[in-house]
Amino acid sequence: MTTGPLTSDKGTRETITQLHRWTDKLITFRITRPANYEFTPGQYARLGLPDGDSLIWRAYSITSTPGEDTLEFYGIIVEGGQFTSRLDQLQAGDPIWLDRQVFGFMTESRFSDGEDLWMLATGTGVGPFISILRDKPLWQRWRNVVLVHCVRHPDELAYADELAAMVRAETGAAGGPGRLRVLQLVTREAAGDYLHGRITTLLQDGALEKAAGLPLNAERSRVMLCGNPAMIEETRKLLHERGMRPVRRMNPGQFVTENYW
Ligand SMILES: Cc1cc2nc3c(=O)[nH]c(=O)nc-3n(C[C@H](O)[C@H](O)[C@H](O)COP(=O)(O)OP(=O)(O)OC[C@H]3O[C@@H](n4cnc5c(N)ncnc54)[C@H](O)[C@@H]3O)c2cc1C
Ligand SMILES: NC(=O)c1ccc[n+]([C@@H]2O[C@H](COP(=O)([O-])OP(=O)(O)OC[C@H]3O[C@@H](n4cnc5c(N)ncnc54)[C@H](OP(=O)(O)O)[C@@H]3O)[C@@H](O)[C@H]2O)c1
Repeated sequence: MTTGPLTSDKGTRETITQLHRWTDKLITFRITRPANYEFTPGQYARLGLPDGDSLIWRAYSITSTPGEDTLEFYGIIVEGGQFTSRLDQLQAGDPIWLDRQVFGFMTESRFSDGEDLWMLATGTGVGPFISILRDKPLWQRWRNVVLVHCVRHPDELAYADELAAMVRAETGAAGGPGRLRVLQLVTREAAGDYLHGRITTLLQDGALEKAAGLPLNAERSRVMLCGNPAMIEETRKLLHERGMRPVRRMNPGQFVTENYW
């Protein structure tokens, strides 16, 4: 937990401009953006909300693109959560603090080679990938881009309509698969056309590769992992078994990760 004084130089006071509730627990919101606030898709901000005469700070991935006037975030309301129980009460016009600094290294530019970019997310971990996908010129260098979004129930598949529109826009002229594939995984019920099961399970049994129509290997695939730390830890082991290694400063690897807690 990070707290600090309300009048700290650390952040600027911004305003909530829009809120959208996907479910009673999932919320997308926009805030004003200072003129000098620069970021790269995949990075995260630190947001502050008042707690008495202090501020509580938490990390939030930016879902909007660098070209937009406002900053967008996608969050879950955690039961009893110190920050999110306050976030849950907010309305347009309310103040929110933004750390002047931008954070994070989970950007697609970390990869120096590879053909296919895989983005694997659980829950709100899809946020940074929304920013990356919205910035189309950014990912045009990849031959194929696969977004895998795993949630408990179908109503938690936020951004699904926007993602479907992106897939349609990328579909090949002959109606074949385009450059972008979106795989939606639901774990707690078997529903609709969704894949049923966790990222780790469907990676192990080959179902993800089959659904994407692409192999996942060290030669051609570069992987970004975001969300639940247990998913990241288990997937990391599975990628290791495939001869893949994390990207390090001096070592070009095949995957990058970001744990949300
Ligand atoms: C780099 C980074 C980026 C992040 N980006 C986002 C984001 O874009 N959207 C977002 O909702 N959260 C994000 N988080 C998590 C966020 O910072 C807070 O932890 C979260 O908002 C809960 O805060 P809290 O004070 O209410 O509860 P906390 O006391 O911080 O968390 C309580 C518990 O809630 C669970 N939890 C926390 N965050 C999540 C989550 N996102 N999904 C599911 N369970 C969770 C964990 O079990 C955690 O131990 C990010 C965290 C990090 C480190
Ligand atoms: N009270 C409620 O009704 C309720 C409902 C939803 C969320 N919540 C709260 O919200 C938070 C959870 O939010 P969330 O559902 O977005 O996040 P989550 O628990 O991380 O689950 C998101 C997805 O990740 C999967 N997953 C979890 N652990 C994994 C692992 N080790 N490997 C691979 N996949 C894994 C889950 O599958 P599984 O389904 O198989 O775990 C689920 O499909 C918690 O704080 C929880 O208490 C509460």
